[in-house]
Formats: sequence, structure tokens, C-alpha cells
Amino acid sequence: MGKREELLRSLGLDPERMPRHVAIIMDGNGRWAQRRGLSRIEGHLEGVKSVRTAIETCGDLGIEYLTLYTFSTENWRRPREEVEALMALVEENLRREAPELHARGARVRVWGRRHELPPSLQEEIRRVEELTRGNRGITVILAINYGGRAEIADAARRAAELCLSGRLRPEQIDENVLSALMYDPEVPEPDLLIRTGGEMRISNFLLWHVAYTEIYVTPTLWPDFGREELIEAIRDYQRRERRFGGLR
Ligand code: IPE
Ligand code: IPE
Ligand code: MG
Repeated sequence: MGKREELLRSLGLDPERMPRHVAIIMDGNGRWAQRRGLSRIEGHLEGVKSVRTAIETCGDLGIEYLTLYTFSTENWRRPREEVEALMALVEENLRREAPELHARGARVRVWGRRHELPPSLQEEIRRVEELTRGNRGITVILAINYGGRAEIADAARRAAELCLSGRLRPEQIDENVLSALMYDPEVPEPDLLIRTGGEMRISNFLLWHVAYTEIYVTPTLWPDFGREELIEAIRDYQRRERRFGGLR
């Protein structure tokens, strides 16, 4: 038995039924802070620790793709101070964690309308993607200024451009063609979507990709979501029966 298989079995996980791609809506930082009489921003700071734990845990478990909802296209509606603090936090942490992520063999990708982000953050994103491009370990996808509808709209616009330039005919457009026009067509669809903070909604995350994803919602707030909780979500996933619309 390999080392990883041994680890998985010791955690009560079936190595044959591991999700390849886990996506997380990291919600509840504000409530976590509020309950302690702290500012929302302190909740986001605490949430960074859970991000680190989630990346490490998924890496240890051999999960190939981890997608983290970091900032939605709707989160601009928040007070300016909170938006600015979030942008600064993402930028600082990308800069600080890049060497460690690289050393672990992680590949970092960013999904979202990055041209609308502060230029210094765009530059940091470019750097970390470039640094980790050739790595073969876990792929960590950060969804920043990401919206599921924006991604689909961007794909539709590119399809229209291809048609106008004569490289695509409208009658060729189907699910496969559109899939190939999403941000990262080589990434498989998420097997498991986790939402912390208890809200039973998608909040415009990965709309195209979650058609048959298993959903796990926990009331645990993101700063309290640790290694054991992540493993429990995967145990729960392994008890599901996936049918993809067929019969088993
Ligand atoms: C999630 O926590 C983090 C982001 C949306 C950036 P929230 O800030 O939404 O926390 P709650 O939902 O208000 O508790
Ligand atoms: C979803 O959380 C976005 C992120 C976690 C980045 P929100 O807190 O923005 O979602 P709603 O407003 O509760 O739907
Ligand atoms: Mg929230």
C-alpha cells in the first residue's frame, strides 16, 4: 500500500473514490468576527489561516484541483474599506505564500475578470502564475472578481468573435464548444462543492461547471473550518450516489 493510500485509509477515506476537484465557497468571515466583537476585516484575516489549511490538506490527500471563491463580481457592492482590505489581503498573501506554494509543487491559477483588479494585484497574479506554471502538484484556482455569469458571458462573446472571423459557424456551437471557451477548459468539473457559513445558495459561483457537482453545506464559519471538517466533507461525498441523470 502506498503512503498516500495508507493515509487516506487511516482517515476513513476510500482511495478509489476521492474527488479530483474540490471547490469551496469560503463564507462566514464577517459573522465570525461579529460574534467576537471584531471588525469584518479581522474575520477575513482569520480566514486566511483556513485557506492555508485547506490547500495543505488537499495537497496531502492528493486532490488534483482546489478552487477557492475569493471575491465575487458582486462583492464590489461592499463598503469601500472592506473591498480595499480584501484586495490588499489577497495581494499580500499571494506575495508571501508564493515561494511556499512553489516549493510544494503547487500550480496557482486565477479565474475572473482580472483586468478590473488593482494593477498591483494583477502584477502579483501574473508573477505567481508564471512562477508555478510548470508545477505538477495540486492546482489551486483562486476565483477573484469571479462570477459564473461573467464567465459564461465572456465565453459567449468569444464564440461570437470566432463566428465573425469565420473560424466558427453558429450551428457548431454546443455544450462542448462553450466548455472549451471557459477560463480553463482542461480543468475537470468540480466533484464536490463545499459552502461554509450555512447559506444554501450558489452565489454566482461556477454556474457552468456545477451541473452535476455534489454539494455540501456546513454551518461552520470559514475561519473555523479546519482539516478535520474538510475530511468530513469528503467522507460525506464518498457516501453519495452520483447518477448524472441516468439509472444505476
Ligand atoms: C466570505 O465571508 C468572504 C468573502 C465574501 C470575501 P463574508 O465576508 O461573506 O462573511 P459573512 O457571510 O458576512 O459572515
Ligand atoms: C460568496 O459569499 C462569495 C465568496 C465567498 C467570495 P457572499 O457572502 O458574497 O454571498 P451572499 O451575498 O451571501 O450570497
Ligand atoms: Mg457572506
